[in-house]
Amino acid sequence: MIAFCGIELSNPVINGSGTFDALAARRVFGEAFERDFPFSAYVSKTITLEPRAGNPPPRLWELGQGMINSIGLPNKGLARFIDEDLPEYATLPAPLIVSIMGFKPEELVTMLQLLDGRDEIAAIELNFSCPNVKTGNIVGSDPVESEAMMTELRPHSTKQLIAKLAPSTSRPDLVAAAAESAGADAISLINTLPGMAFAPGSKEPWLGAGSGGISGPAIRPVALGQVARVASTVRIPIVGMGGVENGRDAAALIDAGATLVAVGTENFRDPAAGNRIASELLQIRGDRVATV
Ligand SMILES: Cc1cc2nc3c(=O)[nH]c(=O)nc-3n(C[C@H](O)[C@H](O)[C@H](O)COP(=O)(O)O)c2cc1C
Repeated sequence: MIAFCGIELSNPVINGSGTFDALAARRVFGEAFERDFPFSAYVSKTITLEPRAGNPPPRLWELGQGMINSIGLPNKGLARFIDEDLPEYATLPAPLIVSIMGFKPEELVTMLQLLDGRDEIAAIELNFSCPNVKTGNIVGSDPVESEAMMTELRPHSTKQLIAKLAPSTSRPDLVAAAAESAGADAISLINTLPGMAFAPGSKEPWLGAGSGGISGPAIRPVALGQVARVASTVRIPIVGMGGVENGRDAAALIDAGATLVAVGTENFRDPAAGNRIASELLQIRGDRVATV
């Protein structure tokens, strides 16, 4: 078992927010889904206080080594999430981590207060790093902003708070240390890297929003470098992610200092990837994983 933020997890592999819809998967895979749930904890898609339609299509561009998305956080808003989705999430065979994002600190304070009494939630991930909304990335890439935001939010939640940082900084260690000093219980990184694609022969960006976030194997070296840098600075646990496709990739992030590893883009190719990666990881690291 692995201890992470006061939660006991059966293995170190979880999902990256926004890359695996557990409620849709349950409808499609039925009983097999309950038996073989692919992750040791489940992270919800990021929700916002108000409902959002997301970005205009097209929203995806496939790369040889991953993809660029500009989904833009479409979601039903916190009130409907609590009423409609939380009871269903609570029945998943894995602890629930809810990802939230706000456009102003007051929005996040309200969200934390509304979620605080909900026993269904094991921890909250603060998405300080979405490249697909206008205010994304700022808090997650600037130590001063990161510390100020955590200082403001911390008194409003008794939950474990995970700060998800942006990769668009040359000093993720300073941003992580600032979040830690202001009360973050864990750090997760990396979110997608900002990028753009033109369709062949076109003089216009392909994505409806113009630009998007790059994910998948293309960003794996960035993830490894940033996780190693953050791990050399903070004492709180790290959830490492970015381009994990197999047990070797996961083992490298753990060797770099991550406690947990999240699988994102690979879930689109193989919805059972989490379990496969966890068992490959166990083969590679054996007891070293089981006793973390
Ligand atoms: C289609 C898509 C949607 C995503 N949505 C979210 C989201 O809602 N919240 C969030 O924090 N990260 C989101 N991410 C980022 C992932 O959680 C992860 O940080 C990133 O993709 C790097 O991991 P990967 O290379 O394994 O995909 C999204 C990524 C993709 C590809």
